[in-house]
Amino acid sequence: MSKVNVVLGTFYGDEGKGKIIDYLSENADASIRCTGGNNAGHTINVNGKKYAFHLIPSGILNAGTKAIIGNGVVIDPRVLLEEIDALKADNYPVDNLYISDKAHVIMPYHIMMDKLQEELREGDKIGTTARGIGPAYTDKFERSGIRMEDLISPNFSKIARRNITKYNKIFAMYGKEELDVESTIKDYESYAARLKDYVVDSVDMIHDILDEDGKIVCEGAQAALLDIDFGNYPYVTSSNPSIGGICTGTGIGAKDIGEVYGVLKAYSSKVGEGMFPTEQNNEIGDTIRELGHEYGTTTKRPRRCGWLDLVALKYAARIDGLTGLAINHVDTIGKLDKIKLCVGYEYEGQKTMRFSTNSEYLSKCKPIYEEFEGNFGDLSQCKSRQDLPEKAQVYLNRIEEIVKVPIKFIGTGASREDMIVVK
Ligand code: GDP
Ligand code: IMO
Ligand code: MG
Repeated sequence: MSKVNVVLGTFYGDEGKGKIIDYLSENADASIRCTGGNNAGHTINVNGKKYAFHLIPSGILNAGTKAIIGNGVVIDPRVLLEEIDALKADNYPVDNLYISDKAHVIMPYHIMMDKLQEELREGDKIGTTARGIGPAYTDKFERSGIRMEDLISPNFSKIARRNITKYNKIFAMYGKEELDVESTIKDYESYAARLKDYVVDSVDMIHDILDEDGKIVCEGAQAALLDIDFGNYPYVTSSNPSIGGICTGTGIGAKDIGEVYGVLKAYSSKVGEGMFPTEQNNEIGDTIRELGHEYGTTTKRPRRCGWLDLVALKYAARIDGLTGLAINHVDTIGKLDKIKLCVGYEYEGQKTMRFSTNSEYLSKCKPIYEEFEGNFGDLSQCKSRQDLPEKAQVYLNRIEEIVKVPIKFIGTGASREDMIVVK
């Protein structure tokens, strides 16, 4: 295991990052959430129980691993406390959780603004998760955000009063309900009282671990094609879920990063609006959705489903510098009779492997497919890549051949155990 191992989504999120993080964290000293907020939903299935984490790092279930929420995350304290309480009710002590003093706080006015902005986009909605993510990052970069260190300081009420008053003027302008200043502050002061003991100087803590030769797993949220810079803007999230966000969201320098695992599914899915060239808005997409239980972990929205797009995957491999692939839901795709794999685009009569998030370009690209045999059968007893049926190996080999990044993990089911670690 390298000093720092990174796990990133390669498509539009929900590729099964949680499962890979949980596995890697078993042998790590720390597991760090780096970007995003509770727009994320990372699922882990352990001992027949399903956990969906929105803010808590997916390594939390490994008692010896410090679970750190990094400075790049935006935190809704109410949601975080709910997650802590749920884990405690399940007899996890949550004494391995640490929260960066520099992480920003999602306030109720951010959630209200998120909904208002979507309304104002009229027919051009992004389809956000309505969790206040965009407005919280806006305040961070505009320098009027509230950090965890402010939330737990005596200054909190002064800063919060000023911000709420400002936002109330905006809500009044649009005829929206305003926030009650004092009760909002009181709620947040009660959250602060419960969270203050978790707050640490995360940069210092992370570097102490590295100085002692500790191993770290960095948990990306969202995915490459939702990246604010590299995704299909504006149908993106408001952070950098690509490799850069790992450095800025933790304070870890590039030289310490070893493996960068890109997580994907054996097909593709997306929630929210925006381009999706291999989408199957038809019976095939519906079948994949049902077989893969493709309903949002966070918003429960049905996910748009389609074939795996290797043009897009190659792009993610480029911008993230992927050293390995983790491919989940091989069991799910193997339930279909025939599988298609997008191995290029036809653009103005020519085959191309060029991906661009420019909507006009993408709308002119027609996926070129190769067809594979499905019906892989039961994969539950497959413990190595060689154990997989020939048909599954053919499909996986072709992906590797085109993307030129080795497959390191193969998901054969939702549980912790249902994963082949490729030696
Ligand atoms: P994340 O956001 O990337 O962590 O992914 P989500 O948790 O939102 O969505 C992934 C879904 O796929 C979850 O319901 C997982 O339990 C499930 N899952 C992950 N890997 C596999 C796999 O290999 N096979 C099957 N059948 N389900 C999987
Ligand atoms: P995980 O970490 C899938 C999508 C939303 C919307 C767009 C912007 O579980 O993979 P936002 O609320 O971030 O402003 O919404 O991004 N989105 C996700 N889609 N998985 C996620 O996270 C997502 N986080 C945001 O659906 O299209
Ligand atoms: Mg998810």
